[in-house]
Amino acid sequence: MTSLGVNMSSKSAKTIFICRECAYESTKWLGKCPECTAWNSFEETVQRVAPKASGKAGVGKSAAGLSGGGNYSVGAAETFTLKDVGTTDDIRYDTGVAELNRVLGGGLVKGSLILLGGEPGIGKSTLLLQICGKFNSSLSILYISGEESLRQIKLRAKRLGVMNEKLLLASCNDAENVSDTILAGKPDIVIIDSIQTMHTETANGTSGSISQVRECTNIFMRTAKTLGIPIFLVGHVNKDGGIAGPKVMEHIVDTVLQFEGDKNYTYRILRAVKNRYGSTNEIGVFEMTDAGLKEVPNPSKVMLEGRVRDISGNCVACIIEGSRPLLTEVQALVTKSAANFPARIATGLAFGRLNILLAVLEKRAGLYFSRLDVFVNIIGGIRLDEPAGDLPLAIALISAIYDKPIDAGTDSTMAFGEIGLGGEIRNVPNASGRIREAARLGFSRCIVPKACMGEKLPKGIEIIPITHINELLKLFGVNNRT
Ligand SMILES: Nc1ncnc2c1ncn2[C@@H]1O[C@H](COP(=O)(O)OP(=O)(O)OP(=O)(O)O)[C@@H](O)[C@H]1O
Ligand SMILES: [Mg+2]
Ligand SMILES: [Zn+2]
Repeated sequence: MTSLGVNMSSKSAKTIFICRECAYESTKWLGKCPECTAWNSFEETVQRVAPKASGKAGVGKSAAGLSGGGNYSVGAAETFTLKDVGTTDDIRYDTGVAELNRVLGGGLVKGSLILLGGEPGIGKSTLLLQICGKFNSSLSILYISGEESLRQIKLRAKRLGVMNEKLLLASCNDAENVSDTILAGKPDIVIIDSIQTMHTETANGTSGSISQVRECTNIFMRTAKTLGIPIFLVGHVNKDGGIAGPKVMEHIVDTVLQFEGDKNYTYRILRAVKNRYGSTNEIGVFEMTDAGLKEVPNPSKVMLEGRVRDISGNCVACIIEGSRPLLTEVQALVTKSAANFPARIATGLAFGRLNILLAVLEKRAGLYFSRLDVFVNIIGGIRLDEPAGDLPLAIALISAIYDKPIDAGTDSTMAFGEIGLGGEIRNVPNASGRIREAARLGFSRCIVPKACMGEKLPKGIEIIPITHINELLKLFGVNNRT
C-alpha cells in the first residue's frame, strides 16, 4: 500500500472550502454558495496535492514499446486494448434477495463500492444484516459497525434469523484500521455501517464532516478496487433527503442506493439513484415486519391497500418503475378558497405539472379552479413524474370539482396517458403492460389514449379510448362547458 502521507507538509496540502450541498469548491469561505445558493454551507477541508511526477514526459514511451503520439511518463499505468482485458462471467454475486438484485442491475458486482442511504430507522442495517444470511454460505462476509456494539448486532441477527457461521463482525471507527482488517482478512463481501462514523487521520474535522466522509470513502474505494470485492457503505440522509456529506461522495462510489419509505407505512422502497453497473430506474419493494424486511413481489397490491372506491377526487394511475408497471392512487381535494391566492399543494409530483394541468382544464374543458384550493397527493410515497400520470390526475381533479367518484357501482378504473397543452390525450409507452397489470389486480376498466389502440392490448378488461379531456366530462355524466 502506498503511504497516504499522514504527516502532510504544508506544501503538499492546501486548505479549501467545500459546499456541503453541492460540493462546489472555493479557496475562501463564502456565506452563500454561488452554485446552489445554499447559505452557510461551506466547510473547511484540507486537500492533499498530488506530488508532481518526477519522470519527464516521453521517457517511458520507448519502454512501453509504443511508437508515435502520446506522452507516457515513467511509472505510467499499463495500457491494454479492450480485447486484452479479461472478463469473467461471474462478476456478480446473487444477494439472495431478488428485489435487491434487481435494483443493483442483476446482482452485486465484485469490486464495487455501494452507498446505501436512508433516513434514521428506515431499515438500512436490517437490510444489510439480512442479506448476510442470504448470500451463498461459501462466501465470507465481514460486517463492520461503527454505531452498534457487537451485542446489539447479535441480538438483531437473532431476531432476523440470520444464521451465517462465516459472518465476521467487528466494531471499529478507524477507517485505516478497517481497511487493514479487510486487506488482511480478504473477505468476499464487506459491509460498513456507517460512513459517518468512520474517521481517518489523513483528513481534518470530526467524523461525519465533509472532509472525513470524503477521505474515508476514498480509502474504502481503494480497498474495494485493490481486492476486487464489493463493499457496502451505509450513509445517513440529512433532512432534505440528500445523503449527508458532500455530493462528491456520490461521485466517488459506483452505486448509490436510496432506501425510502414513510414511517407511517410498513413498506419501503429501494431505489438506485446512481449505478455504474445497471439501470437507475428499477425499484425494489420491501415490507418491514417483526422478522425484518420481507420482499414484496406484488407492489401494486400494497399501494392500493385501503383504497376506498366510491369517494370523489380519486383515480388509480399506472406508472412504469424500471421494467415494472406499478399501480398507485392519485387523490385530489378541491375546496372553496378563503384566501386571495388559493392554495396549490402537490405531494408526489412536480408542482409545475399540477399548475399546467389546471390551466389546461380551464382553457380546454372550461373548469375553473381559480377560486378553489387544490390539494393533490400520490398515495404510498410514490412519485408521479411520468407524463402517463397526467390523465389520472386530470380525472381525479374533475372528479373532485364535481364531487362525483369515477368508480360508481361496481366499476374500478385505472387510467394512464399524457395530456398536451391543447387538452389532447397522447400515447405513452408500454400501454399493454399497464393494462395487463390493471387486469391482473381485478380492475374492470382502463381509460387510455386512443392512439394506443393500434397496439395489441390484453383482453378481458373494458378499454375506454379517449382523444381529448372533454370526453372525460361525459364519463362523469356532465356536459362540456366550453
Ligand atoms: N424488536 C423489533 N421488532 C420489530 N421491529 C423492529 C424491532 N427493532 C427494530 N425494528 C424495526 O427496524 C427499524 C430499524 O431498522 P434499522 O436499525 O435497520 O434502521 P437503520 O436505517 O439502520 O437506522 P439507523 O440510521 O438509526 O442506523 C425500526 O424502525 C423498526 O421498524
Ligand atoms: Mg443502522
Ligand atoms: Zn453549493
